[in-house]
Amino acid sequence: MASEAIEDLLKEGRTFPPPETFKRDALITDAEIYDEAAADREGFWAKQALDLDWFEEWDTILEWDAPYAKWFVGGKLNVSYNCLDRHVEAGHGDQVAFHWEGEPGDTRTITYTDLLDDVQRTANALKSLGVEKGDRVAVYLPMIPELPTIMLACARIGAVHSVVFGGFSANALRDRINDSDCKVLVTADGGYRRGSVASLKPAADEAIEDTPSIEHVLVVRRGENDVEMVDGRDHWWHDVVDSQDADCPPEPMDAEDLLYLLYTSGTTGKPKGIMHTTGGYLTQVAFTHRYVFDLHPDTDVYWCAADIGWVTGHSYIVYGPLANRTTSVMYEGVPNHPDEARFWAIIEKYKVTQLYTAPTAIRAFMKWGDEHPAKHDLSSLRLLGTVGEPINPEAWIWYQQHIGGDRCPIVDTWWQTETGGIMISPLPGATTTKPGSATFPLPGISATIYDDQGEEVGVPGGGYLVLDQPWPGMLRGIWGDDQRFRDTYWSRFSGRYFAGDGAKRDDEGYFWLLGRVDDVMNVSGHRISTTEVESALVSHPSVAEAAVIGRADAQTGQAIAAFVSPRSGYEGDEELAQELRNHVATMISPIAKPASVLFTADLPKTRSGKIMRRLLKDIAEDNQLGDTTTLADAGVVDSIKDRYLAGSGSDE
Ligand code: PRX
Repeated sequence: MASEAIEDLLKEGRTFPPPETFKRDALITDAEIYDEAAADREGFWAKQALDLDWFEEWDTILEWDAPYAKWFVGGKLNVSYNCLDRHVEAGHGDQVAFHWEGEPGDTRTITYTDLLDDVQRTANALKSLGVEKGDRVAVYLPMIPELPTIMLACARIGAVHSVVFGGFSANALRDRINDSDCKVLVTADGGYRRGSVASLKPAADEAIEDTPSIEHVLVVRRGENDVEMVDGRDHWWHDVVDSQDADCPPEPMDAEDLLYLLYTSGTTGKPKGIMHTTGGYLTQVAFTHRYVFDLHPDTDVYWCAADIGWVTGHSYIVYGPLANRTTSVMYEGVPNHPDEARFWAIIEKYKVTQLYTAPTAIRAFMKWGDEHPAKHDLSSLRLLGTVGEPINPEAWIWYQQHIGGDRCPIVDTWWQTETGGIMISPLPGATTTKPGSATFPLPGISATIYDDQGEEVGVPGGGYLVLDQPWPGMLRGIWGDDQRFRDTYWSRFSGRYFAGDGAKRDDEGYFWLLGRVDDVMNVSGHRISTTEVESALVSHPSVAEAAVIGRADAQTGQAIAAFVSPRSGYEGDEELAQELRNHVATMISPIAKPASVLFTADLPKTRSGKIMRRLLKDIAEDNQLGDTTTLADAGVVDSIKDRYLAGSGSDE
C-alpha cells in the first residue's frame, strides 16, 4: 500500500475493533475480566496461579511491604515441572515444543518428551559439575535448543541462571559473571549469524581469565569452529550431558525462591542484576501469554522472534509458552539471510499462527519492500504482536496490512525486564485498538500517570508512567544492591514503581507510551544506558570527556550520538572516531556503538560542571534549543551546533 494511503487512514483516526473472524474462537471476547480483576486483584491472581501445578499451595496470596512483595507465600512448585512434566503426564509428550530452525536451514524438532529428557540429563550434568540449589550459572549461547534446555535444567534443581546475550562482549560477560559469582559458564563454540559462524568461546575464554568464581565451562558444539579447551575446566556438552541419566526429580521450590537474574542497563554505568522469583513470575507470564496471544495449545504454532538473551525471550519463548504447552518456532539467525524473505518463508513453512516481534524489525521489513512478504503464503497468521519500543502508527498499519492481511489483531505490549511480564496491552478478542497505543493495563495490573509533583494526572493527560499496585511478576530486587533497587524505582514517587517511561492517556483513557524519560536509550529495541557508553568512551586513552545521547532515528527508534573531547595530543579525526566505536563494541557490545561521533574541545556544562545532555539532544535532533541560561559558557553550544549541522559529526 502506498504511504499516502496509510497517511489517510491515520488522519481518519481509524480504530480497529477485534475482527469478527478472530473473535469467533477467541478465549476472551468481552471486558468482564477487567471488572472481575478490579473487584479482587489478589483473588484474581490466585485464580490464575491455580492454573499451575503446586506441590504445596500457598498460605497467603500477597505480603506487600513496599517496595518488597512476596506472592503466594508458603507455596511450593517447580518451574520445569510446570513447563514439561505435567504436559507429558497428561498425554502430550509427542506434541512439538520447538520447531527449531538454524540459520543455514538445518532443523530440529523437539517434542515435550524430548525436552523433558534433555532437561533432566542436563540437570544431572549440572549436578555432576557441583552445581547446587541457589548457585548461579552463567549462560552465553546462541539461539540453539540447548539455551532453553539449560534454563529449565537450572530451574529443575533450583540453580539460578543468568543468561547473557550472545552479542555482548567478553568485558560485559565478565562483569555479569563476577557481579553474582557464577559457578559454571555454559557457552558454545559459535553460532550462525548472517551466513557465517560467529565465535563465542574465545570471548568466553577472555572473560573467564578474570572470574575467580567459575569452576567449570560447559561448551555446546554448534559452529564447528576451532576452540581451545582447558583440561579439567572446559567440557564438551555432548561428553557430559549425553551420558547422564534422563531422570532427575524436580526440586520443590519456594514460590519466592530466585528463578533467574537478568542484567539490564540502568542510568549508571553498572548493569543491574534484575531478580525474578518462581511462583508469581510463572503465574504472570503464563496468564499473559495465554490471553494476550490467545493461545490455543492444540492448534497454534506460535513464534516469538526475540533473542532469549533478553527478557522477551525468557518470558515469551521459554517460560510462558512452555507453561501453556505451546508449540513454538525458534529461529537461530537474522531476518535477512539468505534473503529478506526469511521470516515469511518460516511462517509459510511451519504455518505460524502468532508472530511476536519488535517495531525496529517491522520498520526494516517495510524498508526492504512489500514484495518479500507478498511472495509467501501468510494466511496461517491470526495474531501479531510487538514489543520493545513505541511503534509508529505507519509501521503498525503496514504490519496489519502486509503481514496480517487485514484479518489479524495487533497486540502492542508494553513491559520491561523489571516487570517480568506484559503489563499494558490489548486483549485481542476484546479490545478495540488504535495504531500506536498499547491501550490499557491488563486485568490485575494497575498503571497510572503522575506529574512532576507526584500528583495523578487525569484523563486525558500526560506525564510519568507509574505502576501503583504490586503485580506477581515484578522484580524482587537488584542482585547485591538493595539501595539501588529502592532509589531507582521507588523513590521518585514514594512507594510507587516509576517505570522510567513517559506516557499519556487520550480522552478515552488509552495509554500511549512516549519513550524513556531517564538516561536510558532504546536502540532497535535494545536498552542501553548513556552512562555505560560514556564510561566505555572515557576508558579509552584518547578521551578526556564524553557525553552520549539517544537521538530520534526513523529506523532504529533512537541512534547513539557521542560528543567527545579528546585529550591533548590526540587528533579528533575519522580514524579516531572509528577506533572509539570499536572500543565501545569491545567494552560493551556492537549494539552500543555510537552512530555518530563529534569531537569538540568543550562540552556544554552548568556552572557546577554538570554536562547538559538535554542541549546536546536538541542539537542532534535539530530542535529549538532549550533553556541555556544555566550554561557556564553559552558559546560552546553554538560552536557544537555549527559543526554538527555542517556534518562534522562523523557518521558511521
Ligand atoms: O521504554 C520502554 C520500552 O522498553 C523499555 C524496557 O526495555 P527492556 O527492559 O529491555 O524490555 C524490553 C522488552 C519488554 C520500556 O521501559 N518498551 C517496551 N515495550 C514497549 C516499550 N515502549 C513502548 N511501547 C512498547 N510496547
